[in-house]
Amino acid sequence: MSKLTEDRVLKIMNGYGNDPQQLISVLLDIQTESGNNSVEQKWAVLVSRVLGVPLSKIYDVLTFYAMFSTKSRGEYVIEICQSTPCHFTGTGKVTEWFEAAAEIKVGETTGDGMISLFRTSCIGYCDIGPAVKIGDNVFGNLTEEKVKALVKCCRENNTAELYSLCQN
Ligand code: FES
Repeated sequence: MSKLTEDRVLKIMNGYGNDPQQLISVLLDIQTESGNNSVEQKWAVLVSRVLGVPLSKIYDVLTFYAMFSTKSRGEYVIEICQSTPCHFTGTGKVTEWFEAAAEIKVGETTGDGMISLFRTSCIGYCDIGPAVKIGDNVFGNLTEEKVKALVKCCRENNTAELYSLCQN
């Protein structure tokens, strides 16, 4: 569910001086505070109006950068690398472990809104594959136990424990 109000979105833009050059920062803040890890259409329309940026340009940005989503996602987006090196080190099993631990399929979000599972291409940590990305953090050398621990941390919103398992 969206946590943002119009007033808050106006304040975010104001914090950047309502400067259209700060569009990406504004959209990132909106997404971070959204409560559903996405930029909803109504906020894109508001940003367009206040910053004077065409709505089509805002959607160009939202669709160009992988970090953005226009669809509701979980608080923690787990991206499982599917590229060849990780494929050979066991991404198939890793995907199954995440699906079992989170009790959802890839492409879905848990009912509590905490976790979304996605596939991604190489995230640059092939040497510790199979690897996944959660937010800006990479986790590698994944075992079933580690996958369960990661999912538990995300479910419980335990970022301290989550970051202690991080490899970058
Ligand atoms: S192939 Fe998975 S991190 Fe590079």
